[in-house]
Amino acid sequence: MPTDGRTPEDVSQLDALVKSAFIDALAGSDNHVIPNPPPVIPSEARDLLVPGRAIVGDQAAVDTMGRAFSRRDPSDALDPLPRGRDSATYSTGGIAAGREPGQHWPELNAFRLSPDFPSGPFDPFSVAERGQRNLLPAIMFPDAVPVVIPSHATDLPHPQSPSSPSLRADFPALDQDVHGQRLVWLDSAATTQKPREVIDAVSHFYESDNSNVHRAAHELAARATDAYEGARRTVQRFLGARSHKEIIFARGTTEAINLVAQSWGRANVRAGDVILLSHLEHHSNIVPWQLLCEATGATIRVIPVNDAGDIRLDAYEAMLSPRVKLVSIPHVSNALGTLVPVEPMVQMAHRYGARVLVDGAQSVAHIPVNVLMMGADFFVFSGHKIYAPTGIGVLYGREDILEEMPPWQGGGSMIEDVTFERSTYAQLPARFEAGTPSLGDAVGLGAALDYVDRVGRATVAAHDQRLMASLLAGLASVPGLSLVGSPIARVGAVSFVMARHEPPAIGQYLNRRGIAVRAGHHCAQPILRRFGHETTVRPSLGIYNDESDIAALVKALRDLAESKPRRS
Ligand SMILES: Cc1ncc(COP(=O)(O)O)c(C=O)c1O
Repeated sequence: MPTDGRTPEDVSQLDALVKSAFIDALAGSDNHVIPNPPPVIPSEARDLLVPGRAIVGDQAAVDTMGRAFSRRDPSDALDPLPRGRDSATYSTGGIAAGREPGQHWPELNAFRLSPDFPSGPFDPFSVAERGQRNLLPAIMFPDAVPVVIPSHATDLPHPQSPSSPSLRADFPALDQDVHGQRLVWLDSAATTQKPREVIDAVSHFYESDNSNVHRAAHELAARATDAYEGARRTVQRFLGARSHKEIIFARGTTEAINLVAQSWGRANVRAGDVILLSHLEHHSNIVPWQLLCEATGATIRVIPVNDAGDIRLDAYEAMLSPRVKLVSIPHVSNALGTLVPVEPMVQMAHRYGARVLVDGAQSVAHIPVNVLMMGADFFVFSGHKIYAPTGIGVLYGREDILEEMPPWQGGGSMIEDVTFERSTYAQLPARFEAGTPSLGDAVGLGAALDYVDRVGRATVAAHDQRLMASLLAGLASVPGLSLVGSPIARVGAVSFVMARHEPPAIGQYLNRRGIAVRAGHHCAQPILRRFGHETTVRPSLGIYNDESDIAALVKALRDLAESKPRRS
């Protein structure tokens, strides 16, 4: 019997909906895995799903974003993994079959990424070749616990709707008209708006706790220090880091990458060494490495993408060698929205002894991130892209690696003892935080992460994917509009161009309708040029967007497409 209030009717309804959803969704798909945009199951079934879990029936599995996975035919496996292998060995596969093909499949297992994964006879290419798409559930839901749910299970987990109420009202800046129209903010990849809670937390800090930190014996210094260090622990929890010492505050992603390049890079990279970047990089993950290479004689090599805008894992493996000292890759591309399969990429790099930095500027606000599950040596992000103030960002680094790194900036707070002859340095994390930190902004970051956690990270991810599906469907209905790339999974952002209209003119046109999008090169010129463009239009999503925002954008673009060309 269900123990969570779910009736047997609920269970059989879910089972039926899952099955019919996958049959419908896959009818038009030639690869029978996850069409792009992913199929979604009906909302009645979604209401029965539980964030953080995959629901698996005997014919189909549905992840918590309501995407269906199926087997190709009744005798086939619902199996993203190499046939005939022990599925437990391949636990990074997301949803893995527990039986051999041809057998009856009364149950399927959904696995989570396993921290001890590399100990198995793992062959990343057999997974990669079968399609990165199969890795997505585990990547999207690193917190998902292994579940085994027989198709007619009566003990499904507690029902909880992943659909979020509109959060727009929490964001004061969205409560305004622009050019006489309701503001539609579709520029969150550039920066997000801030919820009232974050604004209040920052105001409260300056109204009542403001003091420099760590230095004085008075009450306000103690309060300010508690607030600042409390924010660090919030970040630690949010990222799943082992220790607060692994969390270094910086001004943002850019500064955090420069810190790693200048400190770790100068200490570890030599002439003849190789740094691997991907073609998807933001300029912030290119130029710091160019500066390092100029100083050291190392070389940058670029992991290519295919025509869809996905990383070519085959090429990546061929490029790995003991000369590769660092792989620095985005978790999500800011220009195309490509979700990069960082987990297997980290594992492959580690086999060659390379360190891995993951640029999470465009992922943390959209999908759950757990640095231990991911396995990266460094993970960086900017507060302002996750509803926090500008001027604050984070470098996560594995403690043993940070311990070995020399300081990169000198000044107050980062020292233990100073004489004119020599100085000794503070313990982690202070060693990398010279000078007075951006205190109020750090407090704001802690408040923003708490806010996101209260909404729920699985809810946020599900919301993003649902709106992304609507956005892609809407854009497909605009005459003359072409998407740039068609990656297996897009998170948060999408780029497009339109016949007869240059991106800057589209941006201005949308602005007159109260719609904010980015039109330009998005600080990612190499990837735009890979697709033959100097600029594109990039709408991007946030927690506060809803279907009406997508509808407003699509309507405006359709009007533009149908308008007569302007005489110049
Ligand atoms: C993928 C990526 N990396 C790095 C950055 C740089 O972030 P910041 O300017 O906050 O340092 C951005 C900003 O757009 C980004 O999207």
